[in-house]
Amino acid sequence: MKLRGVVLAGGTGSRLMPLTKVTNKHLLPVGQKPMIFYPIEKMTSIGIEEILIVTGIDHMGDVVNLLGSGKDFGCRFTYKVQDQAGGIAQALSLAENFADNQPIVVILGDNIFKNSIKSYAGKFMDQKNGARILLKHVSNPQRFGVVEIIGDKVVAIEEKPKRPKSDFAVIGVYFYDPSVFDIIRTLKPSARGEYEITHVNEAYIARGQLAYDILDGWWTDAGTFESLNKANEMVLVDPPQ
Ligand code: DAU
Repeated sequence: MKLRGVVLAGGTGSRLMPLTKVTNKHLLPVGQKPMIFYPIEKMTSIGIEEILIVTGIDHMGDVVNLLGSGKDFGCRFTYKVQDQAGGIAQALSLAENFADNQPIVVILGDNIFKNSIKSYAGKFMDQKNGARILLKHVSNPQRFGVVEIIGDKVVAIEEKPKRPKSDFAVIGVYFYDPSVFDIIRTLKPSARGEYEITHVNEAYIARGQLAYDILDGWWTDAGTFESLNKANEMVLVDPPQ
């Protein structure tokens, strides 16, 4: 059994307008590279050879021009188009054929962080089934999916809560068994009209199959001007492994 990788690089990038008016958020520079190189390199650096890239219609051509077959990265890329930005879980649903009943690691294309995911991937592969998420202590939990932890268990996750139950955000690195696609089929869009990854993770909580780790080393997303600046600063000061 080999872990396959899925990088989700769709969405509208609306919080970064006008930087994203004529290009995709994940093609913007972070340090010396396009943003999307970072999640890809997190995967190739632990030996993942098959990587699916999901992005929208508007910029698929540019993404393929940039990344090519995967030869330059030591992997093979598969590409899938998400017609509309219907949410992270909808983007993930497009990975079903690619996953081919194998376990997957999903990384959101705007998540940038220091440490390797090797040890977390190893723990996930030792699980019999279910999912594994990564958490990070943050100072602004209202902007993220936020967990409630009782004892050593995640008992609930709330997407962008007004009154967060903890300071631990769910970061955009998720490990799933093949049943994730059955779960996505049961979802309904949220109040903001998106198929939410938080609902996927809640389904694993309900089954008693959601494990977690707390990510070591710095982490940020890069979807707002503030976080994009932070990402630029961090990769130059303390480059990712
Ligand atoms: O960064 C971690 C956070 O990412 C989590 O804490 C949240 O639970 C999760 O919902 C997500 O929140 P964001 O508000 O940051 O999600 P955003 O809409 O910015 O999308 C993040 C990435 O997901 C984006 O860079 C590309 C991908 N995406 C998103 C959407 C909405 C897609 O591929 N397709 C989509 O339709």
